[in-house]
Amino acid sequence: MSERNRPLNVPIVEPGDKTNGGEGTRAVHTPRPAPPRQPPVGLPTYRTSTFEFESAQQYADVLGDREGGYTYSRIDNPTADAFALGVAALEGHGCDRPIAAQPFASGMAAISTVLLTLCSAGRHVVAPNAAYGGTYGVLEHVLARFGVDRTYVDGTDADAVRDAITDRTAVVWAETIANPTTAVADLPALAAVCREAGVPLVVDNTFASPVVCRPLAWGADLVVHSATKYLGGHSDVTGGVIAGDVDLVAQVRRVRIDLGGSLAPDDAFLLHRGLATLPVRMSRHCATALAVADALAGHPGIERIDYPGLPAHPQHELAGKLFEAGAEGRRYGAIVTVTPRGGRDSGMRLCDGLRLGRVATSLGGVHTLVSHVASTTHRQFDDAALAAAGIPPAAVRISIGLEDPEDLVADLTAALDRL
Ligand SMILES: Cc1ncc(COP(=O)(O)O)c(C=O)c1O
Repeated sequence: MSERNRPLNVPIVEPGDKTNGGEGTRAVHTPRPAPPRQPPVGLPTYRTSTFEFESAQQYADVLGDREGGYTYSRIDNPTADAFALGVAALEGHGCDRPIAAQPFASGMAAISTVLLTLCSAGRHVVAPNAAYGGTYGVLEHVLARFGVDRTYVDGTDADAVRDAITDRTAVVWAETIANPTTAVADLPALAAVCREAGVPLVVDNTFASPVVCRPLAWGADLVVHSATKYLGGHSDVTGGVIAGDVDLVAQVRRVRIDLGGSLAPDDAFLLHRGLATLPVRMSRHCATALAVADALAGHPGIERIDYPGLPAHPQHELAGKLFEAGAEGRRYGAIVTVTPRGGRDSGMRLCDGLRLGRVATSLGGVHTLVSHVASTTHRQFDDAALAAAGIPPAAVRISIGLEDPEDLVADLTAALDRL
């Protein structure tokens, strides 16, 4: 066929180098199209562990941080970086300083890497009483073995945090919305305390997501996420991410590379895709959560209901200041913690009595998920420890999904009626 009559856009192999050689060589070195001149609208998944260089010198320069580029996916990967950049843009909105981000294989990979970056033997951490169990686990079971001291305080009390800080304190840890109490951290007050003491403030923003609250704009130095939750949003991927001060994030990246908790490209693709629908999903999650909390608040079978959107919540006013409003009004997150009357067992019976709410760990996905706190996420706590953390033994954490609000209200009301 003459050059002039060649069909366009049909992959064609010329006789030559790539088709010569033995069958193994031909199979390994199959030709590839040139990178497209039209950038893809969807995010390409760079499913590769390694990247090829133009020369040995370039390899040395990129690996030695003298030239930008990719070498190895444990170090950096373009799909994972696309997800991290997206989170930096969402979390950094409204900040007057540059914001960097790093992707991780899980929320716990992010949290442990941040703590191992900031802490060393002889240093000290201030964390909330009701910190997420995994964070508590890293502090108590890992950092404690390496000579790091811990002080736990009421995370909503900035004065208690100030009193707990010593000249050895390496980090103050906070959670925007605590699990499962839904206590809201006074981020501007905590940031002022930390600034005064010269200690970085790290905020786990998993329960809020950057749609509900952006801690960096309130003065935090770093935010961390279990991206497994709202950022991914469909209960089909595990991941983590941090965003914040550029120098701090660069330090954490060095330790991530050493520890290896890096995000896989396929998971990064799913997480990046989740970001595009995050505001739509969060608005709906939050509006439904408010409707459910409002509807259940007066139910005679309930001893207590914790949701920052209810006027009776101790930090309702603070949440009104810190949390963002959408078209449907103020968004207060989508975790509602319900304590039925009748002690520890009634919490388990409430879970088992649901038709739509699924008994499952995790949160932040399209399905409504429930867990009886005392027997699951806080199973290491006896009644006294639960009381100290402000968690009733019957409490059930409900992660409100994207089902229709009236169906969820009917499901929960019917289960409460049957208790
Ligand atoms: C508030 C919070 N932070 C961190 C994590 C840990 O994230 P991952 O399970 O993705 O490691 C979780 C998980 O439940 C969480 O709820």
